[in-house]
Amino acid sequence: MTNPDTGHGKKAAFMTEAIGIEPHIRDMSSRKQAVLRTQHEYGMPNRVETWLGAGVPMVIDRREGYRLWDMDGHEVQDFHINGGTYNLGHRHPDCVAQLVKGLETLDVGNHHFPSEVRGQLSRMLAEHTPGDLHYTVFTPSGSEANDVAIKTARKVTGRKKIVAYDFAYHGNSGFSGAVGENTNAKYFNSAFEDQFLKVPYNDIDALEAVLKHEDVALFMVETLPATFGFPLPDPNYYTQVRALCDRYGTLLLADEVQAGMMRSGKLWAFEHYGFVPDMMVTGKGLGAGLYPIGALIMTRPVGAWLEENGWGYVSTFGGSELSCFVGIKALEITVSKSTRKNVADLAIYMRQGLDTLRAQYPFFCDIRQLGVIFALGFNADMGGMQMAAALYKEGLWAMFAGYDRRYLQFKLGLLADRAFCDEALGKLEAALKKVNG
Ligand SMILES: Cc1ncc(COP(=O)(O)O)c(C=O)c1O
Repeated sequence: MTNPDTGHGKKAAFMTEAIGIEPHIRDMSSRKQAVLRTQHEYGMPNRVETWLGAGVPMVIDRREGYRLWDMDGHEVQDFHINGGTYNLGHRHPDCVAQLVKGLETLDVGNHHFPSEVRGQLSRMLAEHTPGDLHYTVFTPSGSEANDVAIKTARKVTGRKKIVAYDFAYHGNSGFSGAVGENTNAKYFNSAFEDQFLKVPYNDIDALEAVLKHEDVALFMVETLPATFGFPLPDPNYYTQVRALCDRYGTLLLADEVQAGMMRSGKLWAFEHYGFVPDMMVTGKGLGAGLYPIGALIMTRPVGAWLEENGWGYVSTFGGSELSCFVGIKALEITVSKSTRKNVADLAIYMRQGLDTLRAQYPFFCDIRQLGVIFALGFNADMGGMQMAAALYKEGLWAMFAGYDRRYLQFKLGLLADRAFCDEALGKLEAALKKVNG
């Protein structure tokens, strides 16, 4: 079995040794073999080999709610949900209907001109964010929203340096890829390490040592670092972070691409920690898994460049009308009373089941949780990876934490129910017995 190398090692993320794919696909249907051969040949050679080698030979065919069916029929519960992209499930009927309705009259629109639906979604985001967060710039992805945030911070402060957690993931475009964990940026000779600095998560002294020189434009935080396995901060950490940023003239950004959109039990995870950032980024679930969208939301003073430079950021697809129309529906469902109530119920119910298993299986040694964000810790360096492969066989797909592979990211959808949790807990127990029975 080859191991996806996702960070601590020297190789770029997920880079593995070449293996031939033919021995791995021999028993598959001819349709699935054809897909794998085509993807291997024309775009994903290493990725195809890595998944085959890791025992997760998934080619997603049907998808509905929180379930996926592989092309050869293997059914899995989706606990990956692409980091919250499928918060509301795959192909949520109301969101699909909204997209279909949008297609009757809309297309991506013309990004140079004002738009009714874009305006509507901007206003909704301002209404659903605390403090002075006000102006929204829409982008086609979370990465690009982070790029715009970095340029904004440099413009506002006149400084160049950007600081992030050493094991944060903020995206893979030019600037966002250089921030935080930068193995891949180095691989592409694009790390710019004199400008993109790193500090350990949850270490206020290390942050002050960097900020005190008063030359840092922006401190970017993944409120809960997802790829690092969602470690929780000390209770006062973020209020101290806010105070340090204010003292040293550094702007603060909360990247809520994974932790936001109600996954934490509040719409934005930073609301648990008593601070309001100067900028925040969301994406993924805002498009309901149907239409790509990212959003950077800024306070009025930080976003003041929008008042003087209407074309400071332009993107053909950023804020496309179809994405905004779907986003309006996704946000409406996400903030509804019934969704909030369901998340609160699932958070308690799933936790009880996990606690019971943890008490029985010493290999299952840690549970991290905020709302329906869960990371499960296992007593082995690659425990999260081992469990991901074992769970896949049992009929559940969850992604290990790439920057700390002892952990499995266990992402429960906002609209799941108790029966879905029970089914998952049964599979978790079966996998635990096989991996470390
Ligand atoms: C915390 C975080 N920020 C930013 C991004 C980048 O978003 P996108 O893939 O839409 O560019 C991701 C993607 O996984 C993410 O998890």
